[in-house]
Amino acid sequence: MELPRIIVAIDGYSSTGKSSFAKLIAKEYNLVYVDSGALYRGVTLFALEKGLIDETAGEIDLPGLQKALPELVLSFRNEDGNTLLYMGERCIESEIRSLRVAGYVSPIATIGFVRAWVDGILHKFGEKKGLVMDGRDIGAQVFPDAEIKIFCVSNPRIRAIRRAREMPGADIEEVMKNLLERDEIDSHREVSPLRKADDAIVLDNSDMTLDDQMVWFRDLVKEKYGI
Ligand code: CDP
Repeated sequence: MELPRIIVAIDGYSSTGKSSFAKLIAKEYNLVYVDSGALYRGVTLFALEKGLIDETAGEIDLPGLQKALPELVLSFRNEDGNTLLYMGERCIESEIRSLRVAGYVSPIATIGFVRAWVDGILHKFGEKKGLVMDGRDIGAQVFPDAEIKIFCVSNPRIRAIRRAREMPGADIEEVMKNLLERDEIDSHREVSPLRKADDAIVLDNSDMTLDDQMVWFRDLVKEKYGI
């Protein structure tokens, strides 16, 4: 089904199923899918590999990261219908999903120059519109004029169970601790905090399957665009 060239912004707390939902929307309505969180995860992996995060003290070398960041090249590539993140010529999709990266991504995402760097990439995607992007600040900050804004919420235990299922061998309690820590940092940071845009529609998907979410989305589209 062909939607006009709009921007769909899907924001919300960690592991509320934003990416899976966004991917299905992109497929059904022929939109480009952009995972903004993957870029913050990519910067985090880069900082870890460059030795710019002291994992014992939990400290980030800010001047070092600011100096090194211009050499980082992140891009999305489409392979067999999946969008994968690349660092230069290396696929880093599975590494960025590790708990090690998840443990540092929210502190990295509080840094103003990191957000400006990621926003530069996100705005490039926005130039042509026709996209669905998920994240924390897309509807409120990155694309305040997005035509459809959805804010996803769901019960923390359900979120942890869903996320742990994607991480072989992961412990649900450990995953839940990380989700709640990230929610706390993401909601309270100074720069561009996780926030529902005033005109976003809240979707509590605790008791919904992805199919249910798509039924809900189709109704929304029908109401707004008559298709
Ligand atoms: O998929 P999950 O909910 O675990 O998170 P993600 O979308 O991969 O994002 C990882 C982290 O990046 C978040 O916890 C935020 O700290 C940060 N992020 C952000 O600050 N702004 C965005 N637009 C997207 C992600």
